[in-house]
Amino acid sequence: MTASHATWRRALLSLALLVSASFVGVFLLGGGRAEVYPSGNSTEVDATSLTSQDSPAAANQLAGGRTLFVENCSTCHGIDASGGDRAPPLLGVGGATVDLWLSSGWMPLAEPTAEPERKPAKFDRAQVLEIVRYVTSLAPALPGDPGVPSGLDISHANVAEGFSMFALNCAPCHTITGAGDALAGGIQAPPLHGVTKTMVWEAIRTGPGNMPRFGPGTISPAQVVDIVGYVVKDIQRPVSPGGLSLGGVGPVAEGFVGLFVGVGLCLLAALWVGDRAETEEDGEHDGHDGPEGPDGDEDGEGGDDHRELAHA
Ligand code: HEC
Ligand code: HEC
Repeated sequence: MTASHATWRRALLSLALLVSASFVGVFLLGGGRAEVYPSGNSTEVDATSLTSQDSPAAANQLAGGRTLFVENCSTCHGIDASGGDRAPPLLGVGGATVDLWLSSGWMPLAEPTAEPERKPAKFDRAQVLEIVRYVTSLAPALPGDPGVPSGLDISHANVAEGFSMFALNCAPCHTITGAGDALAGGIQAPPLHGVTKTMVWEAIRTGPGNMPRFGPGTISPAQVVDIVGYVVKDIQRPVSPGGLSLGGVGPVAEGFVGLFVGVGLCLLAALWVGDRAETEEDGEHDGHDGPEGPDGDEDGEGGDDHRELAHA
């Protein structure tokens, strides 16, 4: 019984160490990788023109939007956007949804059965807003529709607050580095590199596809700005990915340090466990041992300690 106890302890401890070691490694590697992505692939134009109803410019926008919609969308969504067997209706979906699905390149699909995936937007900003204008003119917006954000200002975003909100609400699917992840059921949470501030805002407020929608009751307007600020400023242009700067030596060096720390800690753990195994063979049982804490539960703290180590 004592023996199996000891074996378990050993297994748990080495697992804990391995996990925290790879955690440190992945943290650094992931952060390093994040910086290699190109950031920002489209321009930000405010949708202020969407608010002036009757001007000739607005009428032009509507007509232009209709033409674009008929040419690019109506075969699937129907000429009046009422949907059909190829695609869902777009009546009442709201400007933010239409804007997001076009800015992300998800629409137009080539085939009705194709998976929407991120590609460069087919339309420029003005054209996107024309299509938004046309689609939203066909039916009144549903209650709570956020509309296309205009004049979204993230210069005062509290990025630290954004980070904790992101860790809580978004990282479970998109991962803490924003690299994206495969979820249950073959669903893919896409990477968040190269998305614009408007896209992040719209995704939070509309909940595209399999992503939940976060309304103002869940995430306040100020918090949305904080999250958007964190995603656009920190995830995409990480000053210190994962909170560790390493003197800003750059992604490649960071990756190497991550590898070294990770592999090194794994080796240390292996050696240490081996050592213990030998001493324990000399016949005593596990009384109160080691400064390492009761069991594998503490790997979070272990990670912290190792990070401190890496700093030194
Ligand atoms: C080849 C067919 C096809 C074409 C062309 C197409 N769509 Fe779609 N669209 C779809 C399908 C299918 C879905 C549902 C996709 C899903 O939910 O995964 C969809 C979903 C959408 C959604 C999300 C609807 C919602 O309720 O979340 C929007 C917005 C949209 N399309 C806009 C457009 C616009 C605007 C165009 C033209 C620029 C366009 N689509 C062209 C097939 C198409
Ligand atoms: C339950 C998992 C889940 C959570 C939680 C989640 N997302 Fe998503 N997110 C997704 C999925 C899945 C998509 C792809 C949408 C689709 O299915 O078409 C997505 C899409 C996005 C996009 C658009 C990316 C692109 O390629 O254009 C952004 C931006 C985004 N999410 C940001 C966030 C933010 C910010 C949060 C936290 C407030 C968050 N997400 C929370 C699953 C999630």
